[in-house]
Amino acid sequence: MEIRPISEDEFEPFALCAAASFGYDAPPEERNKRVAVFEFDRTLAVFDGQEITGTGAIFSFGMTVPGGASLPAAGVTWISVKPTHRRRGILRQIMRRQLDDVRDRGEPFAALWASESQIYGRFGYGLAAESAAISIDRRHSELAFAPAASGRTRLVDRETALSAWPAIFERARPSRPGMYTRHTPWWENRVLRLHDHAPPGFGGPFLVQFEEEGVPTGYLKYRRKPGSDHGAPAGTLLVAELVTTTGAAYVGLWRYAFGVDLVTTIEAHLRPVDEPLWWMLHDPRRLVREPSDSLWLRLVDVPAALSARRYPVEGRLVFEVADDFCPWVAGRYELVGGPEGATCRTTAAEPAISLGVAELGAVYMGGARLQALARAGRVAGDPANLRLADAMFAWDPLPWCPEVF
Ligand SMILES: CC(C)(COP(=O)(O)OP(=O)(O)OC[C@H]1O[C@@H](n2cnc3c(N)ncnc32)[C@H](O)[C@@H]1OP(=O)(O)O)[C@@H](O)C(=O)NCCC(=O)NCCS
Repeated sequence: MEIRPISEDEFEPFALCAAASFGYDAPPEERNKRVAVFEFDRTLAVFDGQEITGTGAIFSFGMTVPGGASLPAAGVTWISVKPTHRRRGILRQIMRRQLDDVRDRGEPFAALWASESQIYGRFGYGLAAESAAISIDRRHSELAFAPAASGRTRLVDRETALSAWPAIFERARPSRPGMYTRHTPWWENRVLRLHDHAPPGFGGPFLVQFEEEGVPTGYLKYRRKPGSDHGAPAGTLLVAELVTTTGAAYVGLWRYAFGVDLVTTIEAHLRPVDEPLWWMLHDPRRLVREPSDSLWLRLVDVPAALSARRYPVEGRLVFEVADDFCPWVAGRYELVGGPEGATCRTTAAEPAISLGVAELGAVYMGGARLQALARAGRVAGDPANLRLADAMFAWDPLPWCPEVF
C-alpha cells in the first residue's frame, strides 16, 4: 500500500478516514479549523488503491524539558485506521515512517496522547506524564492556606484574550516540563476558536484574566452548565484551561471559579497531578481526583535529549537501552549531569542499569521512577544506581501537558 503526505485538496478524504476510525462527525466547517494548524508535509496517508485507509500527522512543537530548555519535538496526532483495514499493519507502517522522519529532522523525541494505553508501548513510547480530572463541591472549597491574592480578575472578550494569553502561556512554559509552543493559528483555531464546541449542556466559554498592577499574569477559560436540585440552583462550572505565572494569579483564579454563583460543582479535566490546590483546601478530601495517563514520549536521540535537560543532583550513570523498533537508539550510554548542565554520549563501559526505550521515555521528564519500574519488572539495575538515577531524573514540578493535541 502506498504511504505518502497528502496535498491540501486531499484533506477531505483524509478527515473522513479519521472520522470513520474515531467515530465522530466531521462537518466541513470543523474540518477547516483543523486545516489551519495542519503541516501538510508532515501528514501521512495510507492508500488502498485510491482510498485513504489510514492517517497520521505531526505538529512541530518546541517542548519544555526539565530545566527549562525547549526542544524540537514531534507532536504525533491524527492516528487512525479505518475499521475495514485494521490489524493489517497499517499503524505499524505509519509509526515506521514517522519515527524515521523525526530522526531525519533532528527532533530528539516524539510525543502523543493515546486513545488507548496499550497501543504505543510496542513502538517505544513511554508514559511520561499523567494528568488528573478533579471535581469539588463548592460548599467545601474553602481555601484555608492560600496566600493573599492581590490583583484583579476581569472577564475579557476573545480579542483581548488573543492578545494577552499567548504571552502568559509562554512565560509559564519554561517552568513546566511537557508544555509546548502554541503559534497564533493554534490560539485562534483551537484554544480560543470561534464557535467553540461545548460538551453537552454547557454554555460559554467565559474568559477571565488575572492582572497584577495592570500586567496579565494568568488566565482561566471555563464553561457553565445550569442545574437544579429540587428547585435550588445546582450548576456545574468546568475549568477548560487555567494557566498562571504567579502564585497570586493561581489563587485568584481558583477563588474566582469557587465564587461563581448558581454553581455547586467545580470540575476540571487534564489538571497537573501535583496541583497545589489540594494543599490549599481546608477539607482536601472533598477534592476528588482521578489521574490518567496523558503524555507518551518516544526518545529518538538519547544523547541530544538527555544532554539538554538539567538534573537536580550531580551524578554519573552508565546504562544500556534496548530498542527493537528504532535500532539506532539501542546501545550503552554514559550520562554525567547536574543542576548546571549535562552530557550524554555512547560508551563501551559496563552498564549498571538496563532498560527499554519506553522506560527511559517514562522517566525522562521526571514523571516516573526507575525504582518503581524495577519493582514492576521493567528495569534491571543495582539498587544504589537506581536510587541515584531516580534522584537525578526527578523534577519539580511534575510534567504536565495542558491539552490533548
Ligand atoms: C489504533 C489503530 C490506529 C490501530 O491500527 P492498526 O492498523 O489496526 O494497527 P496495526 O495492525 O499496525 O497493529 C500494530 C500492532 O498493534 C496492536 N494494536 C493496534 N491497535 C491496538 C489496539 N487498539 N489494542 C490493542 N492492540 C492494538 C496490533 O495487534 C499489532 O500488534 P503486533 O505488533 O503484536 O502484531 C486503529 O485501530 C484505530 O484507528 N483505532 C481507532 C482510532 C484510534 O484509537 N486511534 C489512535 C489515536 S491515539
